[in-house]
Amino acid sequence: MDLQALIRDVPDFPKPGILFRDITTLLANPEGLKIALDRLVEQCTPLQPDIIIGMESRGFLFGVHLAYQLGAGFVPVRKPGKLPRAVHTVEYELEYGSDRLEIHQDAIPEGARVLIVDDLIATGGTAKATAQLVQQSAGELIGFAFVIELNALAGREQLPQVPIVTLVQY
Ligand code: PRP
Ligand code: HPA
Repeated sequence: MDLQALIRDVPDFPKPGILFRDITTLLANPEGLKIALDRLVEQCTPLQPDIIIGMESRGFLFGVHLAYQLGAGFVPVRKPGKLPRAVHTVEYELEYGSDRLEIHQDAIPEGARVLIVDDLIATGGTAKATAQLVQQSAGELIGFAFVIELNALAGREQLPQVPIVTLVQY
């Protein structure tokens, strides 16, 4: 199945000049959703993670399923002020703006094998910042997985040298 055909292109969102790859149409398609999730599971299984990190908010959609299927735990990385206990914080850049991300300081057991999962990598700012949160947390970063990679933005060049799984490239 061609997953790319189920992803909708939206010009000039959220700002003029941005071509937004909209996964809501993929998520709403029962067969497409199953195949996207199954392919993520298949390609991430060999990495044997103990913990899956998903970034707010679209990383949650794929991260929890992957954690369940791989017998791993799920840890959310959230936008500022959402997590109730002590956090590590990192500043990051988006394709369109900047923000901060946070993780609970006690969320990742020492030495845990950590896989970072998100719907999409664009500039790589979000994934790079999340990798920095893993370093602060004393987990071992073992890979990244994204449904979509925007090749022109070369986000993967921002990331540490670990395996990167992607399902659809533009
Ligand atoms: C989007 C997307 C990734 C990130 C990718 O999230 O889901 O997390 O941007 O961009 P980057 O590689 O340039 O950092 P967004 O911050 O829009 O939040 P959302 O998931 O809550 O919509
Ligand atoms: N599509 C969806 N999410 C995004 C994009 C995009 O093109 N760029 C950054 N986040």
